[in-house]
Amino acid sequence: MIHIECFKSGLEHPLWEVHRSAVRLGCTNDYTERQLKAWVPDEYKPDLWGNRIRGINPFVAFKGGVAVGYADVQSNGYIDHFFVHGKHQNEGVGSALMAKIFEESKNLDLLFSHVSVTAKSFFEKSGFVVIREQRVDIKGVELANYLMEYRK
Ligand SMILES: CC(C)(COP(=O)(O)OP(=O)(O)OC[C@H]1O[C@@H](n2cnc3c(N)ncnc32)[C@H](O)[C@@H]1OP(=O)(O)O)[C@@H](O)C(=O)NCCC(=O)NCCS
Repeated sequence: MIHIECFKSGLEHPLWEVHRSAVRLGCTNDYTERQLKAWVPDEYKPDLWGNRIRGINPFVAFKGGVAVGYADVQSNGYIDHFFVHGKHQNEGVGSALMAKIFEESKNLDLLFSHVSVTAKSFFEKSGFVVIREQRVDIKGVELANYLMEYRK
């Protein structure tokens, strides 16, 4: 069973593991190893990551007491992070997180995100549409993603 809670202190490192495995295991069909390492490097920097994850204050999905995914929605409708652990993808975790985002953003007219090539179909299934394809530069490495939005 999947249940969703709000982020709390102590989840920083487990969510780094979710983030790392989501990208490094989950996106291998769509990005090169060089791109994946630029996106999520090997080295874990606790202070940097801690500030980042506390700053977005995500919802966290648990299965059997273990954090397996997380996603946020900011007050302007921006979804900054949306990640499911590489070993728990296609188990409904992403759907549960998206349902939580919809529930928590009833007051918003628009949701939008910069979505990976890997996650594009999932966001489309959730009702988002592509606004444009983009190329982003991460540490000198170019990656493709999509600006996608959901208008209510
Ligand atoms: C994309 C992602 C968030 C989806 O979460 P998930 O827990 O695997 O999704 P679910 O199990 O809830 O799947 C929901 C539906 O989307 C589909 N789906 C999930 N990932 C998909 C993918 N990569 N391509 C196509 N369809 C996908 C599932 O088949 C399922 O379809 P169904 O409802 O017809 O059965 C997750 O796979 C992930 O973190 N991927 C890698 C990291 C990433 O790119 N994150 C997004 C950054 S913007």
